[in-house]
Amino acid sequence: MSETVLVTGGAGDIGRALARRFLAGGHRVVLFDRDGTALEGAARDIVGGDRLVCITADVTDSASIGEAVTRAEAAFGPIGVLVNNAGGVIAPTLASTDEAAWLADLDLNLNGAWRCVRAVQDGMMMRRRGIIINISSANATGIYGYPAYSSAKAGLEHFTRFLAVELGRHGIRANAIAPGSVRTQAWNERVAQDPEILERVKRWYPLGEVCEPEDVAGLAAFLVSPDARMITGAVIALDGGLTAGSTTMAREFCGAEF
Ligand SMILES: NC(=O)c1ccc[n+]([C@@H]2O[C@H](COP(=O)([O-])OP(=O)(O)OC[C@H]3O[C@@H](n4cnc5c(N)ncnc54)[C@H](O)[C@@H]3O)[C@@H](O)[C@H]2O)c1
Repeated sequence: MSETVLVTGGAGDIGRALARRFLAGGHRVVLFDRDGTALEGAARDIVGGDRLVCITADVTDSASIGEAVTRAEAAFGPIGVLVNNAGGVIAPTLASTDEAAWLADLDLNLNGAWRCVRAVQDGMMMRRRGIIINISSANATGIYGYPAYSSAKAGLEHFTRFLAVELGRHGIRANAIAPGSVRTQAWNERVAQDPEILERVKRWYPLGEVCEPEDVAGLAAFLVSPDARMITGAVIALDGGLTAGSTTMAREFCGAEF
């Protein structure tokens, strides 16, 4: 069944991969992003034809989201799938996190998802059908820097469980995807500064690899498919084993090579 899929933060690399994957699956896709210029670039890049609409909208502003959802539904009908993908990091350590940075990180990465759910949930409840996917992070589970971002993502995962429990009886499923490092433009910029960084980071991953944006899109497509009809309230690690444990640490603890 084809759906109207709303992806927030749609102009970023993961947002674009999500859009491509859902378009390939025959769905209609609406991208929200606060950066209108980046959205124009995404629209050119994705080539979604008449099944793609891009709307400038800010997830930290309820009025902006409300207006954008009205426009999206006027174009493509009711939102059947919401992917809360807008997110980002501000301060890397507790010492560098001032009050403004802490509040901004929570507002974007946690409250933004809450605002978007509020904007679509009545429609989903009325139709007794809806799928919500929250893009979390391995940072919600382990300590890899960025305290406010990580705390917000941990909150997003708990919010996901609340959605599953309270909205399940209305035919709505809610799950979170928790990626480890995903090779996006931000990582490319870090590699330009420090060519070895990605290789050093990969050593912490039991699979020795980091994700591509398409890995996130593939899991999201599965969560929207009928095969996932009984999956709700789950937080799915997509992290090459990062949060399962450290190979180096396990070797040290057991005193044996493997
Ligand atoms: N890249 C990674 O390594 C990685 C790892 C784990 C989780 N994630 C998560 O994946 C999601 C997408 O990340 P990405 O790497 O594609 O990031 P990105 O920075 O490439 O894209 C994020 C997009 O969100 C938009 N955005 C920011 N604030 C917004 C707001 N207030 N309203 C609307 N749009 C806003 C930005 O303009 C940008 O286009 C995020 O939630 C991020 O936390 C990323």
